[in-house]
Amino acid sequence: MWLYEKKLQYPVKVSKCDPMMAKFLVEQYGGADGELAAALRYLNQRYTIPDKVIGVLNDIGTEEFAHLEMIATMIYKLTKDATPEQLREAGLGTDFVNHGGDLFYNSAAGVPWTATYIAAKGDPLANLYEDIAAEEKARATYQWLIDYTDDVDLQDSLKFLREREIVHAMRFRESVEIIKADMGQKKIY
Ligand SMILES: [Fe+2]
Repeated sequence: MWLYEKKLQYPVKVSKCDPMMAKFLVEQYGGADGELAAALRYLNQRYTIPDKVIGVLNDIGTEEFAHLEMIATMIYKLTKDATPEQLREAGLGTDFVNHGGDLFYNSAAGVPWTATYIAAKGDPLANLYEDIAAEEKARATYQWLIDYTDDVDLQDSLKFLREREIVHAMRFRESVEIIKADMGQKKIY
């Protein structure tokens, strides 16, 4: 059960129309290491994870949806004043023709989102290591995005998201240690 709070987790400001940057940001909307994949990956893993760490998956999976909202807001603000010509020049012409102003779950290269992005191995440690890797990949992607823009307002929001990925990776690492300690206690020689 979720309660919806009608505000973004962190403010999103952009200082200029930049459809090319919007195209790159789509990677974090519907790409392999994007926010949709993260949210669905963690929330789906809750049903087999030991009770001690289920809250971590709940918290982070939910927060990833808040990040998805932030990415969508960035893309909207970066493109809302763009002309069809500017969208075409940024490589968003086919998106515009197909979806109008709506977003679609695909990568920056236009590959549709797929459930194969989501690890579900039925083994808590295997799943958590996958989660740590996913967070590190998301952190790296945010770094490339920060490097790609000179818009300090956009950079500020992206830096917030990058920092959250670092915190998520740390919490998953802690969960691995908790599960390993529990496994060690159950050994009978
Ligand atoms: Fe994350």
